[in-house]
Amino acid sequence: MKAFSLCAALLLLPSLVAAQNAPSATYDATDRVFRLDGGQMTYVFGVNPRGELQQIYWGGRVAATDTFPPARPKPGWASFDSSYNNTPQEYAGWGAGLFNEPALKITFAGGNRDLVLHYLSHTQTASGFDVVLKDIERPIFVTLHYAIDPESGILARSAAIENRGAAPVTVEQAAAAAWALPAGRYTLNYLTGRWAGEWTLTQEPVHPGARVIESRRGSTGHQANPWFALQAGGPDENHGEVWFGALAWSGSWRITVEQDQLDEVRVTGGFNPFDFGYVLKPGEKLETPVFYGGYSAQGLGGASRLLHSYELRRILPRTAKTAGRPTPRPRPVLYNSWEATGFNVNEAGQMALAEKAAALGVNRFVMDDGWFGQRKDDHAGLGDWYVNPQKFPHGLKPLIDRVHALGMDFGLWVEPEMVNPDSDLYRKHPDWVLNFPDRPRSEQRNQLVLNLARTDVRDYVFGFLDKLLTENEIAFLKWDYNRNWSEPGWDQLPPGEEKEVYVAYTRNLYEILAELRKRHPQVEIESCSGGGGRVDLGILRYVDEVWTSDNTDPFDRLTLQDGFTYAYTPQVMMAWVTDSPHWLNHRSTSLVYRMLSSMQGSLGIGANIRKWTPEETATAKRLIATYHELQPTITQGGLYRLISPRNGSEFSATETVNGSRSQAVLFAFIHSTQEERGFPLLKLEGLDPRAEYKLTAVEGKAKEGTPAVASGAWWMHHGLEMSEEFRGDFQASLFRLDRQ
Ligand code: DGJ
Repeated sequence: MKAFSLCAALLLLPSLVAAQNAPSATYDATDRVFRLDGGQMTYVFGVNPRGELQQIYWGGRVAATDTFPPARPKPGWASFDSSYNNTPQEYAGWGAGLFNEPALKITFAGGNRDLVLHYLSHTQTASGFDVVLKDIERPIFVTLHYAIDPESGILARSAAIENRGAAPVTVEQAAAAAWALPAGRYTLNYLTGRWAGEWTLTQEPVHPGARVIESRRGSTGHQANPWFALQAGGPDENHGEVWFGALAWSGSWRITVEQDQLDEVRVTGGFNPFDFGYVLKPGEKLETPVFYGGYSAQGLGGASRLLHSYELRRILPRTAKTAGRPTPRPRPVLYNSWEATGFNVNEAGQMALAEKAAALGVNRFVMDDGWFGQRKDDHAGLGDWYVNPQKFPHGLKPLIDRVHALGMDFGLWVEPEMVNPDSDLYRKHPDWVLNFPDRPRSEQRNQLVLNLARTDVRDYVFGFLDKLLTENEIAFLKWDYNRNWSEPGWDQLPPGEEKEVYVAYTRNLYEILAELRKRHPQVEIESCSGGGGRVDLGILRYVDEVWTSDNTDPFDRLTLQDGFTYAYTPQVMMAWVTDSPHWLNHRSTSLVYRMLSSMQGSLGIGANIRKWTPEETATAKRLIATYHELQPTITQGGLYRLISPRNGSEFSATETVNGSRSQAVLFAFIHSTQEERGFPLLKLEGLDPRAEYKLTAVEGKAKEGTPAVASGAWWMHHGLEMSEEFRGDFQASLFRLDRQ
């Protein structure tokens, strides 16, 4: 195998080094106040005199010696809004006249729907608290889990709802957590989009009423992503207070951002209550997803750097090779066959591509869709996971052996949760799909969704994947998912319980991924859903990377990738270089531009490299070699979005700085020069002001007279000026700064 450019050093983000405070979780028994401190954040809640668990403070870290007054309910507002409604509770039951978003709504046997949760007890855990609430009268117990990360201050919150009564109850709405912010003016940032147009950063002032961000689709979705950031005042990349959060759930989800009748802002998120119903029989428990929340005083940039660091250290899995490492290894540079060959894969064609890929310095060769069953196009084959004998008469082994001989590892595309009606699997098990009996089954891309909530389906899916990985030397699975749900019936269950499909499906998906990783600890996995349709902190606990978007146009990618990084680390952001003119926008761009656009994330090549000229091959090879050197800084360093490509900007630029501040990497792009305007001065960020850094132009040039070596202070205050020659359409430059 080719050596990866692995960086063993712990890549802590610079701003976090100073913040390595020990976590603390304290409880003041006199005032009944709970306090959590981590990174630069303090979170405080307490039991108010009525017994409700009430939020007291969420914001910048205060001194350990500071104390907080006990929780006091907010007064009612005239006779229309009760104190119960106005008080920001940690986890409010729907009852007692609550009109704001409840955390929990239950219907009891007999029809009672009133739920009022009071503090019962708590225990201290390794990194926080478990606090138990109980309904004032009925045996519904809710355990709220709190765990704070000492480095970033990010707080993980979730709830376990338990029925200790003698009759079943139906949970109609269950949040993971509710967050409250001080009254004020905020800008809400969230991510929206569609297929091939994911990751649009949407920014709007918070107004009275509720803004609902959600997926009703059975999975995370391209249209909205379970992440938010609320900034005090207007949006600002570098300054100002930001409260942010991300929900770890890959099924239907909902986050409600609500400015209440007293102008206070609350954010409640968890299972999407739309079409939801979970029957808790006596003794049963429902665990919600985790809702992570954090705080930064360094604007949206600071917030995303905290999240990236948290994802790298706490969320992403390790493989057998990297177990025990503080962060996962940088992603292998991969080649993927999809845009080159489509469904038309075969042994000779893939081997020819593999030869070319290896010559470029690629580490991993991935064969995409088309290798199995009767898969000639998207009409047939999904569900039949045997190797197509016409395309691969000797099985996968000859191709895998060739890929290995060329110094790469081998990856394979699968879409395990789907079935084409034209497949042996569907002919044998038509009942295995999500459906309502006697109703039409709506196809998308000629496929139906297998009901993974069923144990027989779960076992089948796990079984074929386990066999595939046992019988073949496969290092990587690209796990695709190309449609959303329709007719979400589960007719094995009694009516009334069928809606549990929303929970059971996703749990089984996680279970399969976890079990596969356990049995095949060398295997890495990518989450793909027609591009970025299933990216969230839930799936990221089980996968090593995600497919960012099917849109590989390098110019569109600048905006998509910019949006992506508000919530997710560039480490997981797969970015392929594909052909020009691009199939989507018919735009022509240079190979250097395409390479640099993709090199901002985890690099892949997805072009038809058999057609590349010797010059193109040489350019790609040179830049892949550079990428290998810079990759740890690019994908695991602190990211500064210096100039955003959003809103039709003529220019854009990003900078990443590694944890020891010994290296920075700078990408700059011109969309289209207008009126001879030169590239703006780039004032760098995050360097050590006293250290000396050498500037190297990998692509492009700095302005004549720019010092070869200057202090971090010089690069940050004086800034870097680009050469006047850096003009035109779709131009790109790449610089590195290395500490001397
Ligand atoms: C959708 C994915 O996003 C593509 O990259 C490709 O794998 C196709 N599916 C294959 O059907």
